[in-house]
Amino acid sequence: MKRIIVGATIAAIALAGSVMAQDAPFGMQIKARQGIMAYRALNIGVLGGMAKGEAEYDAAAAQKAADNLVATAMIDQSMLWPEGSDNSANPASTADAKGWTAEADVGGKEEAFVTAAMAMQAAAGGGLDGLKAAMGDLGGSCGGCHKVSRIPK
Ligand code: HEC
Repeated sequence: MKRIIVGATIAAIALAGSVMAQDAPFGMQIKARQGIMAYRALNIGVLGGMAKGEAEYDAAAAQKAADNLVATAMIDQSMLWPEGSDNSANPASTADAKGWTAEADVGGKEEAFVTAAMAMQAAAGGGLDGLKAAMGDLGGSCGGCHKVSRIPK
């Protein structure tokens, strides 16, 4: 009995090892950061839909989406962007190596997003006009970073 358990354990460890070996480089980090980005897209989509008149303005839903965007700014991303984890290491990523250069100033671009998300948080629940006014800076902050940190499509 004991031997069977030991055998099964060794088989399980070997399996886990082979799964990890097959895993593409930085797979976990890339998935995690893309998840944060997808969550940003989901929430800005709610706000953008209202700004464009595709969805009726709903103060509570707008506030929730803005709060969620700010929440993504609070997540510690220090483990998510190891140097070398760009598209050339793993095609699952659309990150460009130039995003790791000082010139790209991705930290500054993230700051711009945080500032815009907080402005949206202050405005979103207070009426459609305020939401619309905060939309440009917010959307621009996403694009501003993508321009310097993602491989051109
Ligand atoms: C500070 C830089 C930065 C900011 C700010 C930023 N992004 Fe990104 N985003 C990236 C990078 C880099 C990637 C590529 C990540 C990867 O594939 O490894 C990315 C990827 C994405 C993706 C693709 C995710 C996937 O599954 O491949 C979406 C969608 C996205 N961002 C939406 C947004 C939205 C919406 C905002 C603003 C509300 C935003 N991002 C703000 C840098 C940023």
